[in-house]
Amino acid sequence: MIKITIVSTKGGVGKTTLTANLGGILADSGYRVLLIDADPQPTLSSYYPISSQADHGLKEFLINSSTTNTISQTNIENLDIIVSDDPDGKLRDWIRDAPDGRVRLKHILTFLEDKYDFVLIDTQGAVGPLQDAAVAAADFMLSPIPPEILSAREFVRGTVSMIKRLEPMARLGAPIGPLRGVIYRQDRTVDARLIAEELRKASFTPSKGAISILNTVIPNAVAYREAATQRIPVHRLEKNGNLSAKDTMVTLAKELIPNLPDL
Ligand SMILES: Nc1ncnc2c1ncn2[C@@H]1O[C@H](COP(=O)(O)OP(=O)(O)O)[C@@H](O)[C@H]1O
Ligand SMILES: [Mg+2]
Repeated sequence: MIKITIVSTKGGVGKTTLTANLGGILADSGYRVLLIDADPQPTLSSYYPISSQADHGLKEFLINSSTTNTISQTNIENLDIIVSDDPDGKLRDWIRDAPDGRVRLKHILTFLEDKYDFVLIDTQGAVGPLQDAAVAAADFMLSPIPPEILSAREFVRGTVSMIKRLEPMARLGAPIGPLRGVIYRQDRTVDARLIAEELRKASFTPSKGAISILNTVIPNAVAYREAATQRIPVHRLEKNGNLSAKDTMVTLAKELIPNLPDL
């Protein structure tokens, strides 16, 4: 079971869209996928229609370590979800105060080892106990990066300081995994390769190699919004102009997950 947490130090960069679509393509390829909505603003929770709603969500899953009646099913085969049910942000306080708060999620996920091939955790664009817990649970992190040099530099600063702050988690048995940045919402006017090069140079040394930048670039395309409106994974849309969203998602999945069988 591979656990991937989608993070960024900012909101509105594409985390939820990326989580939903990566989950969608993996599930449609026959993998058993669990999405976890760890954002108190529950955007991912309603991204896809729910076909079988559990009574509870992330709060019960964490606080009572309960894997029964906390996992809902989406209308996409093989794609389950633990919804966010914490509009007041109470989970944040609970995680901060519980002795094992920040490692609880990592621990409970071991109960699901045989049930899923992938767990994708969507987070809020803000530092806090819930983000810490989501990061600690991951084998690696994935971050969408806006393709402008100022945002890219901010990404490096924010991400390096997040990784540094969480380094002591290794002493709690939760070493922080590496992070992969993906240039996200690129339009034709910017040269993604230049930004990627700059990011690689700016992040490698301060992160001691923990940050790497993917070769896959996700374009700014109406297809992503259209798919969100239709509540389907973007790869199920017909080809949009000459940019195929399916090709992009397949390329991304293959770059992220080595030895992935053909999609
Ligand atoms: N590749 C893309 N191209 C165009 N628009 C996108 C793309 N990805 C996401 N969006 C739009 O950007 C907005 C923010 O995306 P979202 O995934 O909710 O960000 P976050 O979860 O980081 O706050 C949404 O309106 C979404 O439809
Ligand atoms: Mg979001």
